[in-house]
Amino acid sequence: EAVERGGYRHFMLKEIHEQPAAVAETLEGRHTDAGVLDAALGPGAAGLLDAAQRLQIVACGTSYHAGLIARYWAEEYAGLPCEVEVASEFRYRSHAVAPGTLLLVISQSGETADVLAALREARRLGYAGVLAICNVPESSLVREADLTLLTRAGPEIGVASTKAFTTQLTALLLIVAAFARRRGRPQGEAELVRSAVALPGAIERVLDLEEPVARIAEQFVDRAHALFLGRGSHFPVALEGALKLKEISYIHAEGYPAGELKHGPLALVDSTMPVVAVAPHGALLEKLQSNLQEVRARGGQLFVFADDAAALRSADGFQVVPVPAAPAPISPIVHTLPLQLLAYHVAVLRGTDVDKPRNLAKSVTVE
Ligand code: G6P
Repeated sequence: EAVERGGYRHFMLKEIHEQPAAVAETLEGRHTDAGVLDAALGPGAAGLLDAAQRLQIVACGTSYHAGLIARYWAEEYAGLPCEVEVASEFRYRSHAVAPGTLLLVISQSGETADVLAALREARRLGYAGVLAICNVPESSLVREADLTLLTRAGPEIGVASTKAFTTQLTALLLIVAAFARRRGRPQGEAELVRSAVALPGAIERVLDLEEPVARIAEQFVDRAHALFLGRGSHFPVALEGALKLKEISYIHAEGYPAGELKHGPLALVDSTMPVVAVAPHGALLEKLQSNLQEVRARGGQLFVFADDAAALRSADGFQVVPVPAAPAPISPIVHTLPLQLLAYHVAVLRGTDVDKPRNLAKSVTVE
């Protein structure tokens, strides 16, 4: 096993560091400078994508978070209406299916029981077709879907998903770009493809943050709770950061849209609860900053992951970790990396079984 870990202490750390290569591999041969090749999705892709008028994304866990980010992309860059739901809810409720709705299923393993059941339910309900994003070519999901875009992350051993997540998002960028072209948004398509091409390098640069993030991790070791905040497409990044931390360090963590702070979580903020904020530059930065002031005024300790362009400075109780700036579409991906590293280093310091956290399975194949 030590050989397979390739010199890394845990599979999770190895898989975090494999992300630039895994993302590059997932992009390889699937686009030109101008756009995405329909052939990347398999035979019959063009017809099914042409017919799709809206997307329903279904997934579980980390894959669900990838879907949440994709919704922002679909609506912003392709003007494509998009809904996202966890599979365990989707499969057991009544649906009013709008004509031309394509089901997009995201699953690393392709064997998650609720995801497969949701797919079968969607067939019964008359969805226009099923497109899968999956990491395992011989999985049940790939067999049952009409179209598949395989992530090429390679085997993911750590139970907490890292490279599967970022390669799913890479695949989603390509799919949304294909819709942008169809929906008369060539500039949206070009921006998505350009950003996707910049992704391996951007991820490589953000991995340099490991040292400072590991130092911050020391301040989480004795904590019982943590709050993660984000806005817009970085809200799901906050959810994913909280999920990673709880999965492997067993610290209770919640992800929240920063604008909801006053509607509940602010009551919990005091000097014992670290608050992590994902604060890229952009239209929502000013609003996020005012949310952060609320935390600070209550003695909350803030850890702010902010790209250079956000120009935030550290102060007492307000620690800024500068994240290299990246094009807007890939900023949620780039901001995920330091949160993966944070969860990893906190878990190591707490001495948990990082690759096999208690009570969790890599793939939930029973309901
Ligand atoms: C489990 C794993 C998670 C994963 C989720 C969905 O909970 O521990 O890492 O995100 O299942 O798995 P899937 O294979 O469908 O992406």
